[in-house]
Amino acid sequence: MPIRHLQVSGVRNLLPLTINPHPAINFLYGDNGSGKTSVLEAIALLSAGKSFRTTQFKHVLSHQQDRMELMLQLDDEHLGECELHSLRLKSGDQLLKINGSVLTSQAEAAHWLPVQVIEPNTFRLLSGSPEERRQFIDWGVFHVEQGFMENWKTFRQQLKQRNAVLKQKQEEWLSVWNPGYIESAEAIDQQRQSYLKRFKPEFERILSQLDDSLEIQLTYYRGWDKDSALSDVLARQQERDLNLGYSQSGPHRAELRIKVDKQPAADILSRGQQKTVVAALKIAQGSLFQKESGRSTIYLVDDLASELDEKHRFALCKLLEDLKCQVFVTSIDKEKLTDIWRPTASKVFHVEHGAVRETDQASPTATTTHE
Ligand SMILES: Nc1ncnc2c1ncn2[C@@H]1O[C@H](COP(=O)(O)OP(=O)(O)OP(=O)(O)O)[C@@H](O)[C@H]1O
Ligand SMILES: [Mg+2]
Repeated sequence: MPIRHLQVSGVRNLLPLTINPHPAINFLYGDNGSGKTSVLEAIALLSAGKSFRTTQFKHVLSHQQDRMELMLQLDDEHLGECELHSLRLKSGDQLLKINGSVLTSQAEAAHWLPVQVIEPNTFRLLSGSPEERRQFIDWGVFHVEQGFMENWKTFRQQLKQRNAVLKQKQEEWLSVWNPGYIESAEAIDQQRQSYLKRFKPEFERILSQLDDSLEIQLTYYRGWDKDSALSDVLARQQERDLNLGYSQSGPHRAELRIKVDKQPAADILSRGQQKTVVAALKIAQGSLFQKESGRSTIYLVDDLASELDEKHRFALCKLLEDLKCQVFVTSIDKEKLTDIWRPTASKVFHVEHGAVRETDQASPTATTTHE
């Protein structure tokens, strides 16, 4: 999967840059505010169409610039070579191309460029809204279960129609819309359940390698009572649905409950432990994806050292290396990582005032790669 060439312009404080990353480990180090996270953000933007730091594009676009241009080339184990190109203007217009052809949906870019982000705010996966955990499950389902995207689009349409009927209190139309709603809801639930059944043992395996003292329970709530058919639940809730004007039950209400001793993990675990659990969730997802598709994920690990002691830092680094996928890791000082971890294959980049320079591991000024 590795990105072999990356060009970025118009992202935050970054000067126009061109780098040829290593197919394995890439270290980016530099002072606070130098632009390390911004490099990761540029890669995430190409994959997901949005940043992991902000939902607003205007914050990522460099001040005083009216266009952002991102381009990368990658070699995929199965899909072959690919060039992804994104142009976004301050006005909001954007163009996304893959191998020269215009893409109409971001999902295709995400399909080519599966990216997992581990960053200091990732503990939000535990403490944030259920939507964050739904999105997490769906990343995995989307990448390994056939037809999930289509099923999801069908369900969204059904949900929209059903909610419109509820809002207008057209009770008589519910019997027309319910069968399609139920069918598409169950299709999504089936795919999520099937995925999670394979995901859980992978998660336990990875977590035990990161920290064998942590015992975490993952429980899937499908969005309606596990002991009732959705048709019965809808019948029982019909009056309340009509009063509220929306559907209370369905896969849009699904949740992955992450607990320690029956309590929400976010309420019990320390920050470092939360980071470890989130890292295990994300690495397990990449590892399962790799096993099932033969393709690999790109890991963007921002500020790897934060919150983690040396033992956990090393365990995380080792796991990332063992995955044999491409990793971009940032750190304020290089030594914090390299003193505990010497991957056999890596490149080091120094980031300074928005300029990214590839350096020799021994001497930090060897090659200039920014233009
Ligand atoms: N839209 C923007 N245009 C120009 N500069 C910006 C914009 N948004 C943020 N910046 C600046 O870009 C710089 C890069 O920020 P970034 O978060 O990438 O740094 P970093 O190297 O990851 O720092 P840290 O070690 O503190 O995490 C910061 O100095 C920030 O103030
Ligand atoms: Mg940063």
